[in-house]
Amino acid sequence: MTETPPKRGLARGAANYGDPDFALYLRRSFASSMGYSRTALEKPVVGIADTASDYNNCHRTVPELVQAVKRGVMLAGGLPLAFPTVSLCEPSLTPTSMHYRNLMALDTEAMLSAQPMDAAVLIGGCDKTVPAQLMAAASADVPSVMLVTGPMLAQKFEGERLSACTDCRRYWARYRAGDVSAERIGEIEGKLATTAGTCGVMGTASTMACLAATLGFMPLMAASAPAVHADRLRIAEEAGALAVRLITHPVKPSELITEKSVENALRVLLSLGGSTNALIHLTAIAGRAGVKIDLKRLDALSEETPVLVDLKPTGEGYMEDFHAAGGMVALLRELRDLLHLDCKDLYGRTLAEQLDEAPPFVDRPIIHARDNPVSPVGGLVSLFGSLAPDGAILKRSAATPSLFETEARCVVFDGLEDLARRIDDDALEVTKDDILILKNAGPLTPAGMPEAGYLPIPKKLARAGVKDMVRMSDCRMSGTAFGTIVLHISPEAAAGGPLALVESGDRVRLSVKERRLELLVAEEELARRRAAWAPPAKPKRGWDKLLHEQVLQAPEGVDMAFLRPEGV
Ligand code: FES
Ligand code: MG
Repeated sequence: MTETPPKRGLARGAANYGDPDFALYLRRSFASSMGYSRTALEKPVVGIADTASDYNNCHRTVPELVQAVKRGVMLAGGLPLAFPTVSLCEPSLTPTSMHYRNLMALDTEAMLSAQPMDAAVLIGGCDKTVPAQLMAAASADVPSVMLVTGPMLAQKFEGERLSACTDCRRYWARYRAGDVSAERIGEIEGKLATTAGTCGVMGTASTMACLAATLGFMPLMAASAPAVHADRLRIAEEAGALAVRLITHPVKPSELITEKSVENALRVLLSLGGSTNALIHLTAIAGRAGVKIDLKRLDALSEETPVLVDLKPTGEGYMEDFHAAGGMVALLRELRDLLHLDCKDLYGRTLAEQLDEAPPFVDRPIIHARDNPVSPVGGLVSLFGSLAPDGAILKRSAATPSLFETEARCVVFDGLEDLARRIDDDALEVTKDDILILKNAGPLTPAGMPEAGYLPIPKKLARAGVKDMVRMSDCRMSGTAFGTIVLHISPEAAAGGPLALVESGDRVRLSVKERRLELLVAEEELARRRAAWAPPAKPKRGWDKLLHEQVLQAPEGVDMAFLRPEGV
């Protein structure tokens, strides 16, 4: 018996009206109204997720990237069809972009599945967009190329270089401390982000681009080419051609996201000194493919994976330096013996082949050799204990080592409003040796797990020269931030985790050496507080309600239960 060949192009999935031939007939006739020839409409189709938005500065170049992708698709014999999806830009969204990552993933998955396409190019860039698109690709399992907008360039200004957003935070901290004037901070505002592209440091956007390349969703050097460089357009053209290649040589997302490739991605995250957010996103992406990330495993990997990349916020350079220094190829060569080299990319090449094919170049000040690492151990550690039974994390590469072993009194803020109201109050009882704790800012709260974990140093202490304190919360911090900051405490306070029971004056112990996070309060006292605790009010309608009902905690990537594959 001969099998019917699979339907391609516009014929894919045409089955509505109970009459597939009529469905295709209608589909073609409507597509013809856009001026396509019959020859064009019979080509295989590459869908292009177009995330241009006037609200998304990081995606300013998407229109020209779409044109370059289309060129690549057409030169390779396909029909490119771009379509809009939700687009998320970090500073533009209320309560926070994280609150909408899963919405973008759901939207993108639905459009990848619903519209006729044989392969796709997903154009992302800003922090939540790449995770959302990879989660969508994993669930729809449509062969997909990831194309990022690329990082912005740093600008030279009065003898230093500036770029979003580590320098934004550095200057703002100096302004709060009173050593930068209001006039000066206003002037700097216009110098921090001066070209198109994503944040110019190893923040979440850059980290996710590097992880997407490690997983095989784009060529290795495509992770870091600057947004405004002509190479970025050539990468876009290649993405279009690669998508057409995937139609005859299919490699599905489920083949790229495996136990081994996810472990490689974790190694890369650690050696980049990458964003803490990337751990949540990678967990969610892997979860869509049925691969679980265990925080204890992360910790074990962290002990044997050095930080090799010297970029802000943990080091000195910017993404353009990383690219010029040899980028992901140079980094993965250094890590070679730690990686699973048989993992494949979208071309079907093994990682070993990719590394052997690329020219051997590395610029040492930016990408260190294994025998001279930036740090001999990885950037992140996981912590467990009575304050975080399901785990928490600390980016030790961006923290102050002298604070790693701290037992102190804590000053607790009940939520974002309480934090904003009291942190700069001169009457706040706080010393530089206290631990600042923010609760009720996790995924189940209306705040939506914002990047508020980088609690500001209380103004009176900042003015006295205090640069870092131990800070803890159930929310996240920006990938561009730094400090001794414990994040993602699970279960969160709003889920009734022990964090909900902490009160100002309690003693808390952080031990990075022992990987512990302990609330030093007697069990009888905690039982009394637990009995008095009530969960916060639930949202009544819309996305907020759906998210609240379905959202999972940080160790599951803050994905939604109904979007994960069955049995995970
Ligand atoms: Fe978009 Fe930083 S704000 S990448
Ligand atoms: Mg960010």
